Amino acid sequence: MQIVLASSNKHKVQEINDIVKSKGMDIEFILPPDGFDPIENGETFEENSLIKAKAAWDISKNWVLADDSGLCIDALNGKPGIYSARYAETPALRIERVLKELNGAENRKAHFSCAMTLLNPNGEIAYKVQGICSGSIIKETRGTNGFGYDPIFLVDGDTRTMAELSEAEKNKISHRSVALNQVLAFLKELQLSH
Ligand code: IMP
Repeated sequence: MQIVLASSNKHKVQEINDIVKSKGMDIEFILPPDGFDPIENGETFEENSLIKAKAAWDISKNWVLADDSGLCIDALNGKPGIYSARYAETPALRIERVLKELNGAENRKAHFSCAMTLLNPNGEIAYKVQGICSGSIIKETRGTNGFGYDPIFLVDGDTRTMAELSEAEKNKISHRSVALNQVLAFLKELQLSH
């Protein structure tokens, strides 16, 4: 079974295929055909993942999986949220902006969220899910692994930031893996029932 991943990121496709292979599943994720250029103007992660999924379905008419994710900080009323990727010009400036906005705030609670939408070859929603990873925002950066807001995100139940975890450790608990595992469980059932 082939599934188009609604992303232009080769690394993401590779990462998901590695996970699928490690589970012994007969699924191959592939990049969308040329022309995948969705306008992500939704107001939630869920809406944006559906926009991406439909854009990939329009040009492939295949099974499609899309994801949309970001960091939500309680004391900032859920910001940066869907604006996570564009909160400032560079990753370092985005972190700087978040820390500045949180300056003095006692409540540092936050979570990463990842919405995934799976469309069937008829373009209908076959499955959708939201994965969450809870933590808090520390006052300075720590660690060099990962990307984005990882260096300021202290994982609940751990003394380390997301950027201090190995890739394998992050993959066990991240919002993306939580969502992906549910999608894969759904697909496993689907394949077993056919
Ligand atoms: P995307 O929807 O996966 O492209 O993620 C959007 C943005 O959310 C990224 O550019 C990051 O700023 C942030 N983000 C999403 N997932 C993570 C993560 O696992 N660690 C750190 N930042 C993340």
